[in-house]
Amino acid sequence: MPHDTSNRFSATTPIYYVNAKPHLGHAYTTIVADAVARWHRLLGEDVHLLTGTDEHGLKIQQAADAEGISPKQFADKIAPLFEQAWQRLDITNDDFIRTTEARHRVGVQKLLQACYDAGDIELDVYRGQYCVACEAYFVEEELVNGNCPIHQRPTTYVEEENYFFRLSRFEQRLLDWYAKHPDAIKPSHRMNEVIGFIKTGLNDFSVSRKSLTWGIPLPWDDKHVAYVWFDALANYITAHGYGSNDEQFSSRWPVDYHFIGKDIIRFHCVYWPAMLMSAGIEPPKGWAVGGWLLVGGEKMSKTTGNVVNPLDLIDEIGVDGFRYYVLAETPYGNDGDFTYEGLTQRYNSDLANNLGNLAARVATVVEKKCGGIGPKPNPSSPLAKIASEAVAATTAAWAEVQPSRALDATWSLIRATNSHLEQNEPWKMEPGAAVDEVMGDALEALRIVTILANPALPNTTQEIWSRIGLTGNVIDLRIPRDVAWGGYPGGTKVVKGDPLFPRR
Ligand code: MSP
Repeated sequence: MPHDTSNRFSATTPIYYVNAKPHLGHAYTTIVADAVARWHRLLGEDVHLLTGTDEHGLKIQQAADAEGISPKQFADKIAPLFEQAWQRLDITNDDFIRTTEARHRVGVQKLLQACYDAGDIELDVYRGQYCVACEAYFVEEELVNGNCPIHQRPTTYVEEENYFFRLSRFEQRLLDWYAKHPDAIKPSHRMNEVIGFIKTGLNDFSVSRKSLTWGIPLPWDDKHVAYVWFDALANYITAHGYGSNDEQFSSRWPVDYHFIGKDIIRFHCVYWPAMLMSAGIEPPKGWAVGGWLLVGGEKMSKTTGNVVNPLDLIDEIGVDGFRYYVLAETPYGNDGDFTYEGLTQRYNSDLANNLGNLAARVATVVEKKCGGIGPKPNPSSPLAKIASEAVAATTAAWAEVQPSRALDATWSLIRATNSHLEQNEPWKMEPGAAVDEVMGDALEALRIVTILANPALPNTTQEIWSRIGLTGNVIDLRIPRDVAWGGYPGGTKVVKGDPLFPRR
C-alpha cells in the first residue's frame, strides 16, 4: 500500500567512525541536521532524525589493536561518547544506530543478498592502493606524491580476491534518475560535481574483505566480511527496519535528506543510489552536502591532529551560543574557518548585542513604564510587515537548507525592532498609550523571533518565551499559524531575569 508521505520529514547524519572522540567537524553536520529537523517539527511535520556510529572496518580494528582490546570493546567505549555529546548539544535524534547492532547486521546481509541475486555482485581480484584512513582504494593517478590526496599519508598496496559491486553498470541509470530529480542535491553546484563524476565513467568497487574479520560476513561466503562503506551506507535503511521490520521500513523510506560532508559525496550520491537500485529500493529524496570546517586552513580530523572538542566550547559559550555559531557563521555547503575570535565575535554581535539586548530592553521598559505588564500589539504596526517578510524569508531559507540565511532573515526582525525602539525612545516617554503601543509591538516582534529562532537556540528561546509571560513549550508552536502578527495576548507579566547572553 502506498503511504502518505506528505506530512513526514526524515533526515540522517553520517554515522561517525568510532576511532576518534566526537569533534567539532562531527558536531557541525549533526547540529545542522538537528536544526533543520527542529524547523520541520515547527511546521507540524512528523519528523524523524537518525544518527549513529560506524564501527566496523580496518580503521577501527587498528585503533583497537593499538590499545590491546577487541574492536567491540573499543567501539563500546567510544560510541557512548557520541550519544552523550549529542545529548549535551540538544540534538533531537529519534534513533541512534550502531553498526554492531543485530538489526543492522540482518539488514546489511539482506541488502548484500539482494544485490548478489540481481547479479550485480561478482568475485574478482583487486590490485591497488588502499588508504586506511579513508577506507577506500585509489588509482595511481589520484595519489599526490604517492600519498592519499585527502590524508597526505602513504597508501598501502593491496592484492586481494574480492567481491565487486558492478557500479559501472549503473552510469546511465544514475544519470537518468538525476535528470528526473534535478533538485535532489543541495547546494546545486554539488549536483554538477556528481553528474560530472558519473560521466567520467564509473569503476566497480570491492564490497568485501577476506583479510579482515571485523565486519559483517557475506551471507553466501562467510570467508569475506562486507566492505565497511557498504556496511555503513546501509544504516540508513537498516535503522528504519529494512531486514528486521519491513513494514515499518516501507512506511518510512525514502528519507528526505542525507546530511553529509563534501568528503563523502561519491559514496552517498553515486555508490549508495546504485546499491539501492540494484536491490530494487528507491534512492533517497535528497542530499544536503556541507563544506568542511577548517582549522588554520585544514580540515579538522583526528588524522590531521587539529581537533577541537565541541564540549569544551559549550563550557565556554553555552550550548545555544555554540549551536548558533555553527549555524550562522558559514553558508551551508561552503567551507568555514573555525577561530575562537570568530566564535566570540558572532556571539557578542548577534546574541549579546542584538537578541539579548532586545529581550533585556523590552523587559526593562515594560517594568518601568507599563507596570511590568506587557501591552497588546497594534494590528497596524510598521513592524507587522517586516515580521511577515522575515517569516517568509526565514521559511524559504530553511526549505533550501540554508540555516545561515534563515537566521539572518530572522535577525532582520530583531534589528528592525531594536531600531524601532531607538527611534521611539520609549524609555524617555511618560507611561501611557504611546509607550504601550511601542512596547506591545516590540513584545510581539520578540515573540515571533522566539519561535523562528527556536531551532538554533532551543534553550534561550524557551527562556524568553517564559520571561514575556507566555506559557507552554515553544517546540509545540506551529509555523505559520503562531507567527502571524497579533498573537501576543497582552496583560501578562514580563520579567527581566539575568542576561541571556553575557558579553564575552
Ligand atoms: N563513517 C563515515 C561516514 C559513513 S556514513 C554512511 C565517515 N565518518 S567520519 O567520522 O570520518 O566523518 C563523517 C562526517 O563528519 C563527514 O562526512 C562530515 O560530514 C563530518 N565531518 C568530519 N570532519 C569534518 C570537518 N572538519 N568539517 C565538517 N564536517 C566534517 O566518514
